[in-house]
Amino acid sequence: MTAMLDIQHASKHFLGLRAVDDVSMSVKKGEIVSIIGPNGAGKTTFFNLITGQLAPTMGDVVFLGQKVNDLAPHQRAKIGMGRTFQISKPLIAMSVLENVMIGTFKNESSMNRAKEKAIEVLETVSMLDLAGKRSGDLTLSQRRRLEVARALALEPQIMLLDEVMAGLNQSEVSQSIELLQRLHAQGHTFLIIEHNLKVVRAFSERVLVLDQGRLIAEGSAEEILNAPEVIKAYLGEGHQWKKS
Ligand SMILES: Nc1ncnc2c1ncn2[C@@H]1O[C@H](COP(=O)(O)OP(=O)(O)O)[C@@H](O)[C@H]1O
Ligand SMILES: [Mg+2]
Repeated sequence: MTAMLDIQHASKHFLGLRAVDDVSMSVKKGEIVSIIGPNGAGKTTFFNLITGQLAPTMGDVVFLGQKVNDLAPHQRAKIGMGRTFQISKPLIAMSVLENVMIGTFKNESSMNRAKEKAIEVLETVSMLDLAGKRSGDLTLSQRRRLEVARALALEPQIMLLDEVMAGLNQSEVSQSIELLQRLHAQGHTFLIIEHNLKVVRAFSERVLVLDQGRLIAEGSAEEILNAPEVIKAYLGEGHQWKKS
């Protein structure tokens, strides 16, 4: 099967810094691929190249067989790239439902239908009880879930999640894993940036490791979490290596 998303020799240089340095990878339909790596490794920059917030210095982004280098972020969203941002930015004065409707309106011109679809999305992410709540009043965990809902609202082919578990407590992380597993079972494809190795273990079929902009390892979660170069990249940054 051909890849849904295919990144070919992508680089992003900021003046002298190679934030992303010649990274090639691909994601097939239905896969869950995780990207891990120390802070500053280039993970978010890599996402920005994929979804179009940044133009690559070199390389190509091919999505559903089409080279999308010249498409703006909203055009890439329209053809099926959904994403969340590490710093979530819901429109805080609007309700949860309205935030999701901004997404459903993109594919649905009827107000009623857009509202119905938004309600379905909120049901999927177990947030229907919060539909009328002002987004600015949500907890961190609810805000992250709203980010996922907003990505889902666009009926994406692939979802790119940037550290959606960061700052959550254990039970919130478990709920979040449960949600992602449910979405995966429904056929959703994921590329996720994740710091929490428990999540990577529970959830990923394939793991890529970025370090100083370079792809240094790729394999199953078990292979990767035991690879010496990976441990070195993490320990060099003072990360804890949790085995649980
Ligand atoms: N817009 C930018 N201008 C200059 N440097 C940037 C910019 N965005 C990110 N960087 C730098 O690129 C490197 C990778 O950052 P980032 O992609 O955010 O890493 P990660 O998400 O893995 O923590 C860092 O050194 C960061 O300071
Ligand atoms: Mg980041």
